[in-house]
Amino acid sequence: MKATVLVSGGAGFIGSHVTVELANAGYNVLVADNMSNCDMTNYEGVCRILGYKPEFVQMDFCDPAACRSLFETHKIDAVIHFAAYKAVGESCSEPLMYYRNNLLSFINILEQSKLQGGCNVLFSSSATVYGETDKLPVTEQSPRQEATSPYGNTKQMCEDILRDSVKAYPGIKGIALRYFNPIGAHPSALIGELPRGVPNNLVPFITQTAIGKRECLSVFGNDYPTPDGTCLRDYIDIVDLAKAHVCAVSRMIDEKMKQSYEIFNIGTGRPVSVLELINSFEKVNNLKLNWKFAPRRSGDVVAIWADPTLAEKELGWKAERSVDDTLKAAWEWEKHIAGK
Ligand code: UFG
Repeated sequence: MKATVLVSGGAGFIGSHVTVELANAGYNVLVADNMSNCDMTNYEGVCRILGYKPEFVQMDFCDPAACRSLFETHKIDAVIHFAAYKAVGESCSEPLMYYRNNLLSFINILEQSKLQGGCNVLFSSSATVYGETDKLPVTEQSPRQEATSPYGNTKQMCEDILRDSVKAYPGIKGIALRYFNPIGAHPSALIGELPRGVPNNLVPFITQTAIGKRECLSVFGNDYPTPDGTCLRDYIDIVDLAKAHVCAVSRMIDEKMKQSYEIFNIGTGRPVSVLELINSFEKVNNLKLNWKFAPRRSGDVVAIWADPTLAEKELGWKAERSVDDTLKAAWEWEKHIAGK
């Protein structure tokens, strides 16, 4: 029988791509989302890509009764937890909203995993836990720094909650994947990133500027101590990132974990500057982007990129797509959305 994987936040940007890759790998996927930060576009796209509708449940993981009922009515072999708020700036102005939502939903999932006698739990963490660091690239052993936002703090806290739960409750196994900067869209252009309002992240701002939804892209800072003065990041293709989840889930379900709690960096290992990314976007899509330099954005780290060696060795996973292919896919997706 096919193993069932619950994807919380499965209608969002990362969740929808992970749903497709899990289904392609032969898993039965149970998609759950409260739709607080997305509409049905990505779920409908997933259904078109797969040619069938994976089971979808609209629910809030902060509601313990709804969470219990989901676990009692389904045999869940693994959970991938994405359902969380993710805007750094908003988390500074609404910290309690972030702590309540991001921690409570995860605690409820772990509580149910415990009551069911155990479960494999994959937590979507972030490179944000490393903060500003001089020693690059970062490995999983690099020290975590004190978080600079409540959002970042919820990522650190959820990692700790998972680590402690795995230690205390036999049967719960956990993996935290620390994502670097996920960008791009599915090659079908049927699923992708759909930010509400003005995008915070670079690539959706680029594509919205290129399509004319935004007048001009501001490049935050040109005097950083980097080769071209702009920040360096490790941009990871969303389909590559989604495939890492399949590797991690199968490692858990097939009982190949070496410890009951493991952490992996999910990145390419290649630093790319903001200007390099803009140049690639213009080149591969054959267009000119309207952009200007603007002051530094507060809270930005100068540079961060992954050492992805451990993921390659243990998960058998490695990023495959080039930044150029990813930026082509992001542009196709923006055009698809504009034409809808
Ligand atoms: N940038 C611009 N202009 C923009 C948007 C971004 O110049 O309009 C720059 C930023 O200053 C940064 C780079 O593009 O140098 C990447 O910025 P993003 O906002 O796309 O990504 P971040 O690296 O800031 O954020 C990512 C994740 C967050 C996570 C954070 C910290 O999206 O969820 O890394 O690890 F918290």
